[in-house]
Amino acid sequence: MTDTTPTPPPIPTTPSADMPPEEFRRHAHAVVDWMADYLANVGELPVLAQVRPGEVAGRLPSAAPEQGEAVEDILRDFRDVIVPGVTHWNHPDFFAYFAITGSGPGILGEMLAAALNTNAMLWRTGPAQTELEERTLDWLRQMMGLPQGFHGTIQDTASISTLVAIAAAREAAGLGVREEGMSGRDLPRLRVYASEEVHSSIDKAGITLGIGTAGTRKIPADDAFRMDPAALERAIEEDRAAGIHPLCVVATVGTTSTSSIDPVPAIADVCARHGVWLHVDAAYGGSAALVPELRHVLDGAERADSLVVNPHKWMFVPVDCSVLFSRRPEVIRRAFSLVPEYLVTPEGESVTNLMDYGPALGKRFRALKLWMVLRYFGAGGMAARIREHVRLAQTLAGWMETEPEWEVLAPVPLSLVVFRHAPAGMDEARTDAHNERILAAVNATGRAFISHTRVRGRLGLRLAIGNLRTTEAHVRAAWELLRETAALPRASA
Ligand SMILES: Cc1ncc(COP(=O)(O)O)c(C=O)c1O
Repeated sequence: MTDTTPTPPPIPTTPSADMPPEEFRRHAHAVVDWMADYLANVGELPVLAQVRPGEVAGRLPSAAPEQGEAVEDILRDFRDVIVPGVTHWNHPDFFAYFAITGSGPGILGEMLAAALNTNAMLWRTGPAQTELEERTLDWLRQMMGLPQGFHGTIQDTASISTLVAIAAAREAAGLGVREEGMSGRDLPRLRVYASEEVHSSIDKAGITLGIGTAGTRKIPADDAFRMDPAALERAIEEDRAAGIHPLCVVATVGTTSTSSIDPVPAIADVCARHGVWLHVDAAYGGSAALVPELRHVLDGAERADSLVVNPHKWMFVPVDCSVLFSRRPEVIRRAFSLVPEYLVTPEGESVTNLMDYGPALGKRFRALKLWMVLRYFGAGGMAARIREHVRLAQTLAGWMETEPEWEVLAPVPLSLVVFRHAPAGMDEARTDAHNERILAAVNATGRAFISHTRVRGRLGLRLAIGNLRTTEAHVRAAWELLRETAALPRASA
């Protein structure tokens, strides 16, 4: 750093005085300049943070300063201590888990939301926030091809959206759990059904809601990793005969391991026959419905009681922003609305109070960033970008399929490729170890970040495309890196 003699912060004139506006303006300009440079050059940084556990904490003081510090000093430590310990989800070579983007318009929305600092627990504490959320989610509903009647609320994550959905299913079952709780009373065992490929957030919801991990029954999947609806129906019938109460079926559109898409129309038939709540986990895959020719991924979802989609996954909205749509918002409200005297307002029932739609009271202004993203890119621009990600994934899978030693382990309906390097004559255990080595070696380069899963017991490598900065050149470079790494001399083990 050059000559930056920090100016100590002025002594506040009153104990509560904030940073003076002119100082805020100066630092905010510097921060925005840093952000613009960061977004322009993030691809030059190592994508996976090259730090050891404890390294960042070791560079931070063990207690807060007694006296305030200069912003220049704080920002210097941000650059020198924090940024090197960041794994860059905004990097074009981030291919792990589900790749995401904190896009320009989304970041602007996040900045404005921070400045406004509204908390729309009630309509009157955030009229614009409440109404923008409802209007923007209705745009999104239309863009995804969901019918009228689906009402959306923004939650922080899909895990919480699903928790709210299953709590609503429990309320809909009329078991009096809201009033009586679940313990010390005569209550049948409750059951949630999901495919064996389902995300762990469903089990976590079961843990939180008193259903237990044993309360989620995993239904076998077919060769393409999709839930078998006949097996689902048999499981529901078997459970009913055993006195178990079938509560909710979770169908997934875009599973985490392989991006498989459960047959929602057939699952909806089973749910209708048995009077069971249908929740669709489209946290990742639901975004594909913004592309007109991919809208079929949500076939059957119009019959769901609830559906979660995460704009913070594949709609370029900064973390966090998850949308829970429901055809039965009044049931969610019944499950969660609780209005103590200090939250009673003159508007009463004539307005939406967002606190009624989940366990949290406070609610930050997440709709702003979603609104800005949808307006900036437009429906056509969103579709074009998601379509390109699918094309890139299919292009990569095509390259792999032309090489005999590379196996694509699952169909590629969206923007995720699951694969492994399987040299002829190598047994399964050694193939797993070989792919673990490829995974570690690729990630250690800092030039690409991929993740892994188990596919029918075999180790699979996952390369997901979802960052707006990722181009075909980045995907090709990652493919070359994989090939180079796979060709390195193998350990003898
Ligand atoms: C299919 C699916 N559902 C749910 C989740 C959980 O998402 P969140 O981190 O928003 O809770 C994920 C995360 O990757 C996912 O892939």
